[in-house]
This record gives sequence, structure tokens and C-alpha cells, in this order.
Amino acid sequence: MSTQTLPQAHPPRIQQHRRYLMCRPEHFTVSYRINPWMEPERPTDTAKAIAQWEKLYDAYVALGHEVELIDPVPGLPDMVYTANGGFVIDGRALGVKFRVGERRGEERPFMDWFAAQGFDVVEPFEVQEGEGDFLLVGETILAGTGFRSAGDSHREVAEVFDREVVSLRLIDPRFYHLDTAIAVLDPVEGAGGALRANIAYLPTAFDDASQQTLAERFPDAIRVSDADGAVFGLNAASDGRNVFISPRATGFDAQLRDRGYTPVHVDLSELLLGGGGIKCCTLELRGTR
Ligand code: ARG
Repeated sequence: MSTQTLPQAHPPRIQQHRRYLMCRPEHFTVSYRINPWMEPERPTDTAKAIAQWEKLYDAYVALGHEVELIDPVPGLPDMVYTANGGFVIDGRALGVKFRVGERRGEERPFMDWFAAQGFDVVEPFEVQEGEGDFLLVGETILAGTGFRSAGDSHREVAEVFDREVVSLRLIDPRFYHLDTAIAVLDPVEGAGGALRANIAYLPTAFDDASQQTLAERFPDAIRVSDADGAVFGLNAASDGRNVFISPRATGFDAQLRDRGYTPVHVDLSELLLGGGGIKCCTLELRGTR
């Protein structure tokens, strides 16, 4: 075996068009604690949250992506985390049913928004928190459980979208939604052709069986360090080429560059006080009706 190190081969990174749903954090604050990041006694700065959020919005638009907006509702400070508003594939929107009472008021506004935009809305039966715990990778749905979404919701999402679902169990309370521990990197369309869907993940956020599943399914995945995971580095959005990440995730940044991706830094430190980052503030809208 040769000991020579060769530059890593990777396929060309092709940017795909994305359509996202975001919600301006006009009513953002931390008034309750439903994850370990939230400290209601610590003051928050709503103007700073809005300014940081606008940088994310501008970064998406500057790269040619479409961003739709849902009106923020007073008294629903977590509505900025639109990833928890639903899960949308093929023009069909599965609504959410929050485990946490504090966010149940968001369920109806999101479903009403999907309906008004012409999506085919499915009201959920089981407890689940949308794209926070469901991630589309190629034609497969990765589904998280352990803290928020119920295991039974995985069967429901498989039926609603008629796709294979792989269940994964989260074990670290800091990484309570799947999108805090896995980032989907590659185009979801075109998988099976020259482009392969790949992910980055934080192994220590998962139980042993799930770590094994991830290693088998995604042998080429980027395995992110605990240090990068702890700054919410995996709470990232990707268009297949540009990967929107926290500037604090320096190791992940280097791993992405090695593989030919272009990291785009967006600092959402104020929104991290609510336990959310870039991906939490972004819901992908796939297909229209
Ligand atoms: N405070 C929110 C909650 O605990 C943050 C949600 C973050 N969203 C996400 N997709 N990880 O529900």
C-alpha cells in the first residue's frame, strides 16, 4: 500500500435552486425553557436577532435562492424556527404536532400558510416537529426520535410521502432535534446519477445502533467533531455547493473545503439562545401545487 497522500477526489459540487420558508424574529425572546440552550433569566436582544436573521435571508437571496416569509405571531417567540413548521415534499406539506405545549400555537398558522400557498396539507396524527426531525437525503427520509418527535411519527411520515424512512435515536439533550446533529449536503434531486446524496453528522449525538446505521449507509459522510457540534455547526443548510454554517464551526469548515464545498458563514448567536441555528430558521419547500 502506498503511503503517499493524494488529494481527495470528490465529484463536482453543483448548486441547486432552493425555495425556503423563513419567519422574521420580530417577537423573538426566551421566555420559557424547552431545551438546554434556553435560559429565560438571561436577557435577549430582539433587534440583534432580527439583524442576524436578515444576514441569513440576504445570503440565500444573494445566491439566487427564493425565500418565502410567514408572518410572525405575537406570543410565539419560537416561530422563527420554521424548520419545525412542517415537512414538505412534492408539493405536499405534512403539518406538525409539537411535543411541547409552548409551541402548539404555531401549528395552525403554518398549516394555514401551506394551504394558502396551494400545498396539499396533511394534518398529522402523531407527535412530530417537522423538518427539525425529518431530513430528506436523496429519496430516503432520515427521522429522529428520543426527545421530541415520537417514534410512531416515523411510520406516519413514510406513509404520507411513500418513501423509505430510517429511524435514528438521539441521546444528548443538547442535540434534541435531528437537524442539530445531521446536515444534508448534496442535491436531493439527481441522486443515483453522477451526484450522490451525502451528509455530515455528529456521531456522539446518536445511540450505538444509530451510529452503526449511519456508518453503513453513509460511508463517505463527514464526521464532525464534538467541538463543532457544540457550536451548532451541523445546524446548516446546503444547496449542494454552498453550505451555510456557523463561523464558529472551524473544523467543519475545513472538512467542507476539503471536499469541494463552499462554506458560507452566517452568525446566528442571538438565535442560539433559543436553541436554534441556521437550519432551524429554514424550512425547505419542495415542489408546488
Ligand atoms: N426553542 C426551540 C425549541 O426548543 C428551538 C427549535 C430549534 N429548531 C430546530 N429545527 N432544531 O423547540
